Amino acid sequence: MKKLLVTGGAGFIGANFVHYWLTLHPNDNVTVLDALTYAGNLGSLMPVMANPHFRFVKGDIANTALVEQLLLEERIDTVVHFAAESHVDRSILGPDAFVQTNVVGAHSLLKAARNVWLKEPAHPLSHRFHHVSTDEVYGSLESDEPAFTEATPYQPNSPYAASKAASDHMVRAYYQTYGLQVTLSHCSNNYGYYQYPEKLIPLCIHHILQGKPLPIYGDGKQIRDWLFVEDHCRGIELILQQGHVGESYNIGGMNEWQNIDIVTLLCDLVDAEFAAAPVLTKRYPNAPYAKGISARSLITHVQDRAGHDRRYAIDCTKIEKTLGFKPTESFASGIRKTLHWYLDNQRWVEEAENRDYQTWLSQQYDNRS
Ligand code: NAD
Ligand code: DAU
Repeated sequence: MKKLLVTGGAGFIGANFVHYWLTLHPNDNVTVLDALTYAGNLGSLMPVMANPHFRFVKGDIANTALVEQLLLEERIDTVVHFAAESHVDRSILGPDAFVQTNVVGAHSLLKAARNVWLKEPAHPLSHRFHHVSTDEVYGSLESDEPAFTEATPYQPNSPYAASKAASDHMVRAYYQTYGLQVTLSHCSNNYGYYQYPEKLIPLCIHHILQGKPLPIYGDGKQIRDWLFVEDHCRGIELILQQGHVGESYNIGGMNEWQNIDIVTLLCDLVDAEFAAAPVLTKRYPNAPYAKGISARSLITHVQDRAGHDRRYAIDCTKIEKTLGFKPTESFASGIRKTLHWYLDNQRWVEEAENRDYQTWLSQQYDNRS
């Protein structure tokens, strides 16, 4: 029976991971540590809040003493580290928070893990620190270049990517220097349920429903490799179960799309949903379909993102060959499921943006002893 500390578990991938893990490993214990920044939504964890195997603690990963206390109190043997400032545009506007959480915070977490697992006499016999990194640390690809492998040299371009790269190096250093049992994963762009509507896919769905412009940065021909979030969770599960300590694994969707094509696809899918279900016109009267026009009419080219990476693509041969990973969700069905989830859960979007409500929720559910 594992005892997991999931950092950033109220965020997009972290919350999906908690649901994934508790469904497949119902006897394991999961403690979430999350600072509930603007990106954290406790509503995403409501389905597990009453589960006796689950505990939520509001707190900062940079609080070394709190993390040590949790590691000891819960006899944690596995840390899955998702907590981060994760949005590239925000890192361009204000890099400080990225250095603080993604570098200083990640280091504080490593320090706490070392103090408890490698120094305390009663530490668990085996432990694992899994660091969730990103493909962005590898930089940007030209259209004819081969996909990133684990051996691709780091060349981060945004302050976000640079901060993630810095934490990757620190994780590796704790393995090489102190013998902390670490693994790392580098995943491509995730999509799915519970994603804050600042990222491309949920932003476009939300904007179409509100009849707001869909901002396409530059020519919109930048390429991302999209993976359904549950497949990412499964990749991490495989690494925790069978991955080699000290190793990095790429996880990707083998599913490259130009941004403009993703956005036009979403427009057409939303229009088709409205055509099939007239009730949506009542629910979302500002959506273009409700006004007799196509959602594509909202597409608006805007100034490009500074230093915008042109293309990401992931070669996941290593995790496929060594751990048997393959994405299971097709993009055609994953994107429909995602759209349906957002159509049914606009309340979640409103709650995510309502910080007073989040503060109230966290007062009800923060479980510090
Ligand atoms: P997110 O922004 O949705 O969630 C981040 C979570 O971390 C939030 O709940 C936030 O409250 C919490 N957090 C932030 N600072 C904290 C701190 N100092 N202490 C404790 N909690 C804090 O992010 P996400 O998209 O779920 O990404 C999770 C991880 O996966 C990140 O490390 C990111 O770099 C990585 N990643 C994301 C993607 C993607 O497509 N979203 C792809 C590859 C890797
Ligand atoms: O590749 C993994 C990374 O994917 C993660 O490490 C990051 O945490 C995650 O945010 C994501 O980064 P991107 O910058 O690729 O994701 P985002 O959704 O912000 O943008 C996807 C693409 O769409 C990117 O080329 C920028 C473009 N875009 C984005 C937004 C929000 C637009 O054209 N318009 C927009 O309004």
